[in-house]
Amino acid sequence: MDFMEYDERITSANQNKEEEGVELTLRPKKLEDYIGQKTATENLKVFIEAAQMRNEPLDHVLFYGPPGLGKTTLAGIIANELGVDLRITSGPAIERAGDLAAILTNLNENDVLFIDEIHRLNRSVEEVLYSAMEDYALDIIIGKGPSARSIRLDLAKFTLIGATTRAGSLSAPLRDRFGVVSKFELYTIEELKKIILRSAGLLNIEVDDASLEAMAKRSRGTPRVANRILKRVRDFSQVKGRGVIDLDITNETLKSLGVDEYGLEALDREILKLIIERFKGGPVGIDTIAASIGEDRVTIEDVYEPYLIQAGFLHRTQKGRMVSEQAYKHLGIKMPE
Ligand code: ADE
Repeated sequence: MDFMEYDERITSANQNKEEEGVELTLRPKKLEDYIGQKTATENLKVFIEAAQMRNEPLDHVLFYGPPGLGKTTLAGIIANELGVDLRITSGPAIERAGDLAAILTNLNENDVLFIDEIHRLNRSVEEVLYSAMEDYALDIIIGKGPSARSIRLDLAKFTLIGATTRAGSLSAPLRDRFGVVSKFELYTIEELKKIILRSAGLLNIEVDDASLEAMAKRSRGTPRVANRILKRVRDFSQVKGRGVIDLDITNETLKSLGVDEYGLEALDREILKLIIERFKGGPVGIDTIAASIGEDRVTIEDVYEPYLIQAGFLHRTQKGRMVSEQAYKHLGIKMPE
């Protein structure tokens, strides 16, 4: 799956068109308003302060983890806290070395460049990035053949923030050039409740605790999904309810959206069912699962599995994936002795 493509499933962590605008208004701008990812944010707070005291750019930062967890949001906060400009682009958008050179030469001292899906940079672009990250310089080849020579162009000192669904998909030379590497974790129900409550406040809607809990539980540990559910519940309460979000209207919305009580959607259930029905509950290899479902392995590992594992439906073992007793229960299938 291409993470830059829009996706209309309610529980998808991919961004859709409507969200480009709305998410911007819901996004926190300051570190103190950012909920969750405690380890990453506490460390970054120190690194940001230290860089500012030295009047140096922040070291390059790599964010990795499933989509929808707020990597771009945190990059925006970092730039904001540093008081510098943020330039956002993505791996697939930078097609040639010249595209990257154009971006880099336009940065000002200490600016932040955010590259989403950085694992999708092509080789020639990636190589230009090495000297830019290490020496704040571009090596440009002029001429062809024996008379070709290389000149070095100095760049403003900048911070690169790269984001990827997994650190392992980056080449070692690129990965090694990041001074700070932060793993993004799925959010807890408590954290998601806080995020939904904050968003509801910004959208001017009242939500009771039971509704918060119900929405948080179905958000797959992902703020982007939580905010999307909140907006749909708001629509339902506006049209069919009393304008206030209560548990009835929340449940009605979730039901009409086809989201089950754990936030699982069709493909999640398909994965679990496949393992149960065709492979006796596992263990079964990820490639076999991918081939049987017709999804690519990386998408299953990076997008679907993390939540299925966090929610306790799936385990990763040496021999492959196994479903849990809870998965049988949830799907209403009797577990063999
Ligand atoms: N919106 C998306 N991610 C968020 C977070 N971690 N904290 C607050 N609001 C968010």
